[in-house]
Amino acid sequence: MSIKRIGVLTSGGDAPGMNPCVRAVVRTATFHGIECYGIRRGYNGLIAGDIFKLDEKSVSHTINRGGTILYTARSKEFMDEEGQKKAVSTCKFLGLDSIVAIGGDGTFRGARALSKYGINVVCIPATIDNDISCTNYSIGFDTAANTAIECIDKLRDTMQSHERCSVVEVMGRNAGFLAMYVGLAVGATAVLVPEKPIDFEHDVIEKIRQARLNGFSHYMIVVAEGAATASAVAAKIKEALDLDPRVTVLGHIQRGGTPTGRDRINATKMGYLAVELLLAGKTNRIVCTHAGSFTDIDIDEGLVMSKSIQQMEVDVLDAMTGL
Ligand code: F6P
Repeated sequence: MSIKRIGVLTSGGDAPGMNPCVRAVVRTATFHGIECYGIRRGYNGLIAGDIFKLDEKSVSHTINRGGTILYTARSKEFMDEEGQKKAVSTCKFLGLDSIVAIGGDGTFRGARALSKYGINVVCIPATIDNDISCTNYSIGFDTAANTAIECIDKLRDTMQSHERCSVVEVMGRNAGFLAMYVGLAVGATAVLVPEKPIDFEHDVIEKIRQARLNGFSHYMIVVAEGAATASAVAAKIKEALDLDPRVTVLGHIQRGGTPTGRDRINATKMGYLAVELLLAGKTNRIVCTHAGSFTDIDIDEGLVMSKSIQQMEVDVLDAMTGL
């Protein structure tokens, strides 16, 4: 398979590290003498033919920038066959024989559709939720987790001074990986995730009571947005205990900011590998990482895998909170 022109796009929710990843794709392609084009606004840009030439210089000073210079979108038009066919004819018209798609599961499903029409595709996992089953790491998670940890550490200072309870809502519509990781890192009293049915008495109230018995006078509850809203959790705590919790919703602040070293390195390696896979004649692949090594998997196989919160994380949290 001879690769002549690669298009790179970012799609779905943005994640810090997307820019270093685009940079790595562009630089690796250029290194091999292959042309590289940026596609704006994910699959919408592919349908509209909204592309621009990228060379090694055009991605200078992007390694440290959050967001995505390519913009991103969740394309409704691309979800049906008509939109996909339009995108394929744009690819053919513009001479884009290969696409590197950076994003989450939805992005991968889009890439698989392109692949069925004969476009070479390689996907790179990027989402702060870290919920892509075929990889144990997705670009953006580390930065988002560190942002949330920094914010919660600040909250803890004032919660400790006033001997209060704080309920913090972190992102994660369908997944609690971010909430669990952040909860462990900030020493949360309780963590609620969408993957586990909530037994409020056991999972929250008893934990606060136990912390009180252990001599603590401030409590930090971390809740993933998909498990419950922070305000609903706070209201229930108020009803059950003599406490008046304060609510903080971290929201999109978790998606911004300078990517951490870990995100920059993973993004750079994954971007490099995506181009190398295309050059090796591979298509319909997802770049993934396990235990520090990088590999790739067929998109169809990757999309049917599942991933769950590690029992060890739950056990460690229980041990740390004395329950
Ligand atoms: O998938 C990433 C994510 O940040 C989720 O954690 C969150 O639920 C969602 O995107 C928010 O999406 P939007 O930016 O469209 O509000």
